[in-house]
Amino acid sequence: MMKQLNLSLATSMVAAVLAGSVAPSVAVADDPQNTPIPAFGSQCLSCHGEDGRPELADVPIIAGQQPIYLANALRHYKSGERTGGQALVMQEMVKNLSDEQIVALSQWFGAQQ
Ligand code: HEC
Repeated sequence: MMKQLNLSLATSMVAAVLAGSVAPSVAVADDPQNTPIPAFGSQCLSCHGEDGRPELADVPIIAGQQPIYLANALRHYKSGERTGGQALVMQEMVKNLSDEQIVALSQWFGAQQ
């Protein structure tokens, strides 16, 4: 009995890992305003604020901004096309994000009021 339980637990864990690696696509939440930020974006909040409204005077407010604008800004940091100001900070932040992750974060910040 115990053996069977462990086996099924192990099977479901393997399935979860496989699901994660085989389907890396990032779903955009139906209602991003009332959904927590995706885990890969949690570090964004330390500078941009819990809801995209930063406490720091030199960090831009991105809450409620147009998602397409945000995604393009992030793509341009990633490609190195956007420079000057504090762009180096953001280039570092986005270098490992996929385009799907960029879109999901842009939707999330854009939906914050
Ligand atoms: C260490 C602090 C810090 C972190 C962490 C950080 N940012 Fe930024 N972000 C900045 C600063 C500073 C700027 C202004 C950069 C510039 O001068 O171009 C900025 C700019 C931006 C912009 C451009 C805004 C505009 O109006 O053009 C976007 C979009 C953005 N960040 C999104 C994010 C996302 C998404 C994350 C997480 C992946 C993130 N940031 C993490 C500090 C940070």
